Amino acid sequence: MAYSSIKTFALLALASAVTATPCPYGALAERGALPKAEADKFFAARAERDVNIDDIKLSKREAEHAAQEKFYKRQVDLGDLLLGGGLLNGVLQPFTGVLADLDVPVPQEFSLKEIPGDDVAHQYVAPGKTDVRGMCPTLNTMANHGYISHTGITTFAEAANACQITLGFGYDTCIFLSAVGLLAGGDLVSGAYSIGGADSRVPNTLGPSLGISKHGFFEIDNSISREDYALGNQADFRLDRWEALVNITEKYGGEFGNSAFAEERVMRYNEAKNINPEFDAGVRWLAVSTAERVFIFRALPNGTHETLADYQNVAPFYLNETFPEEWYRRADAYTLAETGTDIANLLASSSEVTTPGVNEGLNNFVPLGIDLGSVTPTEATCFLASAIFDETPGFLAPGLVDNFDVVEAFLNGAVAPFFASFDCAISGYSQPGANASSSTAGVSTDCNILVNGVYQC
Ligand code: HEM
Ligand SMILES: *[C@@H]1O[C@H](CO)[C@@H](O)[C@H](O)[C@H]1NC(C)=O
Ligand SMILES: *[C@@H]1O[C@H](CO)[C@@H](O)[C@H](O)[C@H]1NC(C)=O
Ligand SMILES: *[C@@H]1O[C@H](CO)[C@@H](O)[C@H](O)[C@H]1NC(C)=O
Ligand SMILES: *[C@@H]1O[C@H](CO)[C@@H](O)[C@H](O)[C@H]1NC(C)=O
Repeated sequence: MAYSSIKTFALLALASAVTATPCPYGALAERGALPKAEADKFFAARAERDVNIDDIKLSKREAEHAAQEKFYKRQVDLGDLLLGGGLLNGVLQPFTGVLADLDVPVPQEFSLKEIPGDDVAHQYVAPGKTDVRGMCPTLNTMANHGYISHTGITTFAEAANACQITLGFGYDTCIFLSAVGLLAGGDLVSGAYSIGGADSRVPNTLGPSLGISKHGFFEIDNSISREDYALGNQADFRLDRWEALVNITEKYGGEFGNSAFAEERVMRYNEAKNINPEFDAGVRWLAVSTAERVFIFRALPNGTHETLADYQNVAPFYLNETFPEEWYRRADAYTLAETGTDIANLLASSSEVTTPGVNEGLNNFVPLGIDLGSVTPTEATCFLASAIFDETPGFLAPGLVDNFDVVEAFLNGAVAPFFASFDCAISGYSQPGANASSSTAGVSTDCNILVNGVYQC
């Protein structure tokens, strides 16, 4: 055997030992350094363990798919899937009728992977004059790297796919987020939406598409780095808010983790209650303001150290809207159930209860009568469900209020199946009231290039 092939062989053997066996005992067995009887015992035990893990995964997936099929059949029997959709074998089914052109997101593979790595198609390109950016730092980052359209005009499927590919968020979580984005300000028929304000490149098939920064639907008060709608541009990055957050993290070892956000969210809540005469802390605020905070420490850490959301990993998304250098996405899908668990934990860690309600003028906070004193993980996941099922009608754009049957079919087909296993107390859909629709358009950032937290225009 030539020297080079011996070397290759040795390297391959080493590589397989590293990937197959993190344990030193296994490495010895693989190198043939153990007595035969012991090595045989080791390999037999490992084979059995691998089979068991695969068996468990397989039977879990089979159980999930069986539950999905049952729910699907029930939806069909109840006539809920009038425009298609529904979840079978872990995949959303195509839509029909007026939604026939609405592409559905595709489940992606999950693994530790460098993003963007040396993939030439996904290096940072600064946004140009006509490119839209908004208040979601990760959507802005995905657009700057071409994982969604560089223009900032994306679609239901494109953003949900990119969310899985770049951040390792689950199919369920990504579809939920993108569905809320689409309903917040997009064109339901084509699936197109602007990641900032209203834009002429998004069709207005059922009525005006107002952009996902339209206030009150997905865009809420108490954002981390953005101003409340009543007090300024709700899409622009605000360096002072970021710095206040960084200052808080310094008390917690520099970590953008649960403890830092428990403190920061109470600070923002009390501030808005005191100075924002239109402060709206409703059910959508509850879902979005908590989810966006836990997302930071579940999505932005280096996947090689999944629990460490430090400045080095979080800041590039915020200050430059780019992935950190040599950054790896998380290895396993982050689900809606995990989101609920994290939200419940965030609420339980907060030093004050942050009662939901609205300011009807200053010094006139009207509580909503929702008790956040002790919230279970399932209840918290159900906040996400109520934010979209119970609360949607009141916040839709006029065109969607007039086509509420299409909205209902979309929610049944694309979102309801992901909440089926939580048994949330959602009685049905409230119908849009007379004053439901608001046609106030969202806004984009005043300037779209951010470098070191400063707009370059
Ligand atoms: C895929 C579709 C997504 C859509 C349509 C979307 C949309 C939005 C919207 C409308 C906001 C504003 C909320 C507010 O007013 O505070 C927002 C904020 C935010 N989003 Fe996203 N988002 C998506 C995915 C994600 C993902 C996967 C992450 C994971 C990290 C994420 C992280 C954040 C964070 C951290 C904020 C808070 C920004 C701040 O105020 O500092 N988003 N997003
Ligand atoms: C953050 O801390 C620094 C240093 O203590 C201070 O100068 C700055 O004003 C603080 N910024 C905010 C926004 O709280
Ligand atoms: C942002 O980009 C600038 C210019 O390339 C760089 O100097 C700075 O270190 C970056 N900041 C972060 C937090 O990555
Ligand atoms: C991520 O982890 C890898 C492997 O440890 C390391 O080489 C890289 O520098 C880390 N990147 C960041 C942004 O922390
Ligand atoms: C609906 O809007 C009209 C006109 O602005 C107003 O007079 C009426 O009180 C509103 N109704 C409700 C239920 O808010």
